[in-house]
Amino acid sequence: MTEVFRPAWVEVDLAAIRANVVALSALVAPAGVCAVVKADGYAHGATAVARAALDGGASWLAVALVEEGVALREAGIDAPILLLSEPTPDGIDEAVARNLTLSCYRAGAIARAARAAASLGVTAEVQLKVDTGMHRVGCAPAEVPALAQAIAAAPWLRFGALWTHFAVADEPGNPFTALQLARLEHAAAALRDHGLRPPLLHAANSAGALCHPRSRLGLVRCGLAIYGYHPAPCRDQVALTPALSWKARVQFVRELEAGESVSYGLRYRLERRSRIAVVPLGYHDGVPRRLAAAGGEVLIGGRRRPIAGTVTMDQLMIDCGPPGDGEVAVGDEAVLIGHQGAAQISADEWAERLDTISYEVLCAIGPRVPRRVVDAGRPGAAAVD
Ligand SMILES: Cc1ncc(COP(=O)(O)O)c(C=O)c1O
Repeated sequence: MTEVFRPAWVEVDLAAIRANVVALSALVAPAGVCAVVKADGYAHGATAVARAALDGGASWLAVALVEEGVALREAGIDAPILLLSEPTPDGIDEAVARNLTLSCYRAGAIARAARAAASLGVTAEVQLKVDTGMHRVGCAPAEVPALAQAIAAAPWLRFGALWTHFAVADEPGNPFTALQLARLEHAAAALRDHGLRPPLLHAANSAGALCHPRSRLGLVRCGLAIYGYHPAPCRDQVALTPALSWKARVQFVRELEAGESVSYGLRYRLERRSRIAVVPLGYHDGVPRRLAAAGGEVLIGGRRRPIAGTVTMDQLMIDCGPPGDGEVAVGDEAVLIGHQGAAQISADEWAERLDTISYEVLCAIGPRVPRRVVDAGRPGAAAVD
């Protein structure tokens, strides 16, 4: 790894990930927990999160891309890994070679998996993904019997599960989730009529697991909740701890006169003499350019301080008020997301300000920011990039 000189980092608390998985497992039992670690573990660092989730009792991992699954295998993780979408033909070959569990929804993909498994002489698990109304990927319910039969009939394939994905599970009052579940159950019943029994049914994401107990079935696929965030508004079912903090050190401090303006566009005008602290993170790192105009704040010295002016590519400026209004110095810790003393800023707060979801806030944290693993339960955990 190239040495990092910039004092800016993400801290990921593995104890929080483990505790969240333990709490979710207790809530959904006897269903198992599949920890969704795609997109580099929602930008937390997939390998470290995967290990912590498995330690916390997750029985499965899930990723979006073959290459994400390969990275976990290369890190020595041998737990079952589910690919959430059908890969390209070459990707299918690699997935079979790496013992990644395929989700398929087209006959061609099943045939390719069967050929890859036969040529390697390995049994590959294939799960059938059915589109029950989200209309992203998945086969039509009417195609389920023929596709399941194609999997079951292939000598080197094992039919592992029938599953679907919800569109509005985070809207607890929306009857569409029950309709999707009924369509999945109906598709499973149709399979039984063809003499096929899927060994596993699954449907729930975090919101399904928390807000729709009937949807837990045999397995819940939780992403957001294992990272410690609730998919609004399902907050009461289980206590979760955010695992990620985002920090930096103040790089530069200047006192400016009232009437001066700060950053590109000179949109932030000082009403009074003020100390402006520069923090070395910017929009390339995932701090949205518009966060300042949306009222974004940063914690310095245990206090909320407003972002002063447009966020730039590598730096943002913080208004620390007039001299005497609390201390601020080069090297002070600045917290963008996380705790400082009694003060706290969460990804949910950013999401609300920016009219988005916590997922997008977390996943936007760029690869240029080093990830440091901390582990309250296991002191001395190594820092990772
Ligand atoms: C198919 C599938 N299952 C499960 C998840 C996990 O969702 P969540 O983070 O809401 O738990 C995702 C994430 O988008 C997904 O695409």
